[in-house]
Amino acid sequence: MSDENAKKLYIKTYGCQMNVYDSERMAEALGGQGYVATDTPDDADMILLNTCHIREKAAEKIYSELGRYKGLKAEKPDLKIGVAGCVAQAEGAEIMRRQPMVDLVVGPQSYHRLPDMEQQVAKGQKALDTDFPKEDKFDHLKSRPKAQRGPTAFLTVQEGCDKFCAFCVVPYTRGAEVSRPVDQVLSEARDLVDRGVREITLLGQNVNAYHGIGAKGETSLADLIWQLNDIDGLERIRFTTSHPNDMDDALIEAHGTCDKLMPYLHLPVQSGSDRILKAMNRKHTAEDYIRLIERIRAARPDILMSGDFIVGFPGETDQDFEDTMALVRAVNYGQAFSFKYSTRPGTPAAERAQVDPDVASDRLQRLQALLNEQQRSIQDAMVGQEVTVLFEKPGRLAGQMVGKSEYLHAVHVQAPKSMRGELVRVRITESSTNSLAGVLAQDVAA
Ligand code: SAH
Ligand code: SF4
Ligand code: F3S
Repeated sequence: MSDENAKKLYIKTYGCQMNVYDSERMAEALGGQGYVATDTPDDADMILLNTCHIREKAAEKIYSELGRYKGLKAEKPDLKIGVAGCVAQAEGAEIMRRQPMVDLVVGPQSYHRLPDMEQQVAKGQKALDTDFPKEDKFDHLKSRPKAQRGPTAFLTVQEGCDKFCAFCVVPYTRGAEVSRPVDQVLSEARDLVDRGVREITLLGQNVNAYHGIGAKGETSLADLIWQLNDIDGLERIRFTTSHPNDMDDALIEAHGTCDKLMPYLHLPVQSGSDRILKAMNRKHTAEDYIRLIERIRAARPDILMSGDFIVGFPGETDQDFEDTMALVRAVNYGQAFSFKYSTRPGTPAAERAQVDPDVASDRLQRLQALLNEQQRSIQDAMVGQEVTVLFEKPGRLAGQMVGKSEYLHAVHVQAPKSMRGELVRVRITESSTNSLAGVLAQDVAA
């Protein structure tokens, strides 16, 4: 089929990095049905929203987005509209009841069945699949087209969660914790490297709980990283998101000894109050977390710490919140994400007495001010230092390239486009709100 005749697929992705990865795999699965990607909904034959259910706002966004496609669907009755991801899993057929123009609903564990579902909707039927199937979706998604890729990629190694934090929908939308076998991960990684990838971020809702089956039986995340470290052409390894209770000694040590493992760690803590941590079912104390970070920093002193926080969790008092502020001061974060608690139907905390929303807003403001201050001062301290940047794409200004440092800072540099995909030493000259600027170290030396 020539590209002109090809049907066009528009995918819009919400939520976490795993959804970004899943969207790529869904596009590939539908590529076999003759779809090519388009970056606007206006000329699409199919629109697929890959959704997030983590907070109420994220889920409601989907219905307003669907509303926007009413006109398009009226003009073009053959347009197919699908909802994938965590809202699809959580709400299932309810989505089609609320928004009858939706043709297809597919959950995060069943999207390998998209080709069959597409045939169903092509016949004018509705298609719904939110199973947690026994078969491994990845076994059915093996053949990726061999197209060239950018320098960075995500690779899902673990999915689902058995932790059941009292606020969180993920154990329900993604299901029980499952690790992909080592061989499957290694061959996908090699394939990505063959196609131009230099940096891989291993993904899992609980990535450091990884325990995939390998040649020597159960393999930990640290062992997996060491095996990936041997792949020629792969230059950088990252992983996210980790749970503090699954940070084992080998993984901590790898941060000090594995040269391809980057010095950045996203380690959500959610609260600094032991009372709230207990109510959240996090199963560790604030002190445990601070000691853990001390051990990680002993292994890799320059590691940049990142975290997630929730304020206004049911029962959170002023003192609990002050404990969170104290933990943040003790850790000193280079990056962090903080949210006001959002009630999620079906989770244990939804039944509990809620904090006054204005009080929660004030706390969020104070917490974010402190986190921003920390982020900024860590960034500012980079000025004058040399970092290694993996150039990913042209920057906003002419002649500029942008990429990430070891510490995941975005860095803008005047450099030729031919340097895309290269690891380059850069001297940092400037720090602004969300990025750094620098010059090629070779230019400074010359
Ligand atoms: N698997 C990751 C978290 C995934 S959700 C982990 O275990 O850390 C990403 C972040 O969203 C969480 O870390 C938490 O800070 C936030 N979050 C989850 N549920 C939430 C809720 N009900 N209200 C507000 N924030 C929430
Ligand atoms: Fe959600 Fe907790 Fe599991 Fe993270 S560890 S995905 S916050 S239940
Ligand atoms: Fe959202 Fe689902 Fe990811 S709820 S954060 S898209 S796992």
